[in-house]
Amino acid sequence: MSIFDDFRKAMGQFAGAVTAITTTDGDQPVGLIATAVCSLSAEPPSILVCVNRSASAHDVIIRNGTFAVNLLHPSQCEVVESFTKLKGPERFNSSSWCYESGVPMLDKACVSMRCELKEAMDGFSHSIMVGVIKEIRFREVDDEGCLLWRGKGLHCAVPMAELAR
Ligand SMILES: Cc1cc2nc3c(=O)[nH]c(=O)nc-3n(C[C@H](O)[C@H](O)[C@H](O)COP(=O)(O)O)c2cc1C
Repeated sequence: MSIFDDFRKAMGQFAGAVTAITTTDGDQPVGLIATAVCSLSAEPPSILVCVNRSASAHDVIIRNGTFAVNLLHPSQCEVVESFTKLKGPERFNSSSWCYESGVPMLDKACVSMRCELKEAMDGFSHSIMVGVIKEIRFREVDDEGCLLWRGKGLHCAVPMAELAR
């Protein structure tokens, strides 16, 4: 096994919250599924998103200077399916999106955050994008859980009754 294979295997052990990162190219929605999303600071509220330079949305996000991070609810597996199986704006057809803020925000996501791109730093194959959060929308029905990716598949995060309460 090479360090490359070991790295993939090691990172497969990490559970990552599944998000759809979205923006628009003119009037067309574009986006990708991403788990490399991390809180940065509270003041200003900001996050990091690592986007592969080869992703179709990469240059669009940089050009646009704005994007949304949509944390998927367990009822939204179809978003992962559409984003991974389809290309371009077709990725957005299977679910309901709000375009009011200029970037696609997913209806009924656990949370959607609209960000302004502050900086895009070199991260080898990826750009480390710093987003300053301008708007946050929460799912109105406050039921528990979010979608996680671990190993090669989707999981549902739910509280451990004994430990979490
Ligand atoms: C569960 C999951 C997590 C992913 N996480 C990331 C990520 O954090 N960053 C990233 O650039 N691509 C990530 N990808 C890959 C992208 O979603 C996408 O497939 C790839 O960038 C190709 O996009 P394109 O067809 O628009 O060029 C992930 C894919 C899956 C299925």
